[in-house]
Amino acid sequence: MVLAPFSGGQLKYGVEKGPDFLLKHGLEKDLVELGWDVTITEPLKGKNLADSNDADSEFPTVKKPTLVGETTHLINQTITDSLKDDKFILTLGGDHSIAMGSISAVLEKYDDLCLLWIDAHADINTVESTESGNLHGCPVSFLMGVNPPDKIPKSLSWIKGNLKPNRIAYIGLRDVDEGEKKILKENNIKAFSMYHIDRFGINKVIEMALQAINPTGKSPLMCSFDVDAIDPLYVPATGTPVRGGLTLREGLFLTERLAETGNLVALDVVECNPDLAQNETHVLDTISAGCAIARCALGETLL
Ligand code: ARG
Ligand code: MN
Ligand code: MN
Ligand code: MN
Repeated sequence: MVLAPFSGGQLKYGVEKGPDFLLKHGLEKDLVELGWDVTITEPLKGKNLADSNDADSEFPTVKKPTLVGETTHLINQTITDSLKDDKFILTLGGDHSIAMGSISAVLEKYDDLCLLWIDAHADINTVESTESGNLHGCPVSFLMGVNPPDKIPKSLSWIKGNLKPNRIAYIGLRDVDEGEKKILKENNIKAFSMYHIDRFGINKVIEMALQAINPTGKSPLMCSFDVDAIDPLYVPATGTPVRGGLTLREGLFLTERLAETGNLVALDVVECNPDLAQNETHVLDTISAGCAIARCALGETLL
């Protein structure tokens, strides 16, 4: 288990408290009860990364590139180390920019890795298309290497950008920027929005997504789960909530199904922000959903 208490990929503080809250809710004990031998690593602990909006005047369109670059590189290095022992990698965010660190590391170990990105957002903005400048809206573009090379901030240039577009599928989309729609289309990326879930049902959508990215059914799978994929009715305490999302059961079914494939090698759970809760119930709903996603992905079943 990799703790990534980081908020520098966006501007709302509190999301760095995610790992602490998930652990306080009993996640480690839950996983031990499921039979896992849990090791906790903290790549960011004791690291003094200045949280300044570094005036990287060369790259004025993105916020805090140096901080995000250094942080995600530390996460990448820690996970690369853990993967030498063939560990399952559960990374707890933090905002979704941390996936640049986790996914790049898992991708280095498994070059035929398939990625399911579960999110209300596509997070595939480039340094040119981003409207907000927040790097948590950009991790996929860096992982896929679709930023113009001369526009990549130096601190983020360590990312290889070798994720192939036919190896990633999205589920849960409902707030995709115009620039992102273009990138998705140009790269022919399989993207299932809430429309597709209503049209075909979550079960069929998962099978279509898996078939598209992993036609042999034999490749390793990673899931990057932004809790805002789930409707804010169930997961209110998150930075960019969008109504009309997955039900809690659809989210959990998805991770149960991924566990059932036997191919899942890594999971991110990101964007729980307890500071954005309006009351204690909101905190509990959000954190317990985050824990349940992790437990289901790691083999918890209803019977
Ligand atoms: N598309 C918007 C942006 O680029 C929202 C991104 C939200 N991302 C997230 N990981 N919650 O700023
Ligand atoms: Mn999101
Ligand atoms: Mn939008
Ligand atoms: Mn996201």
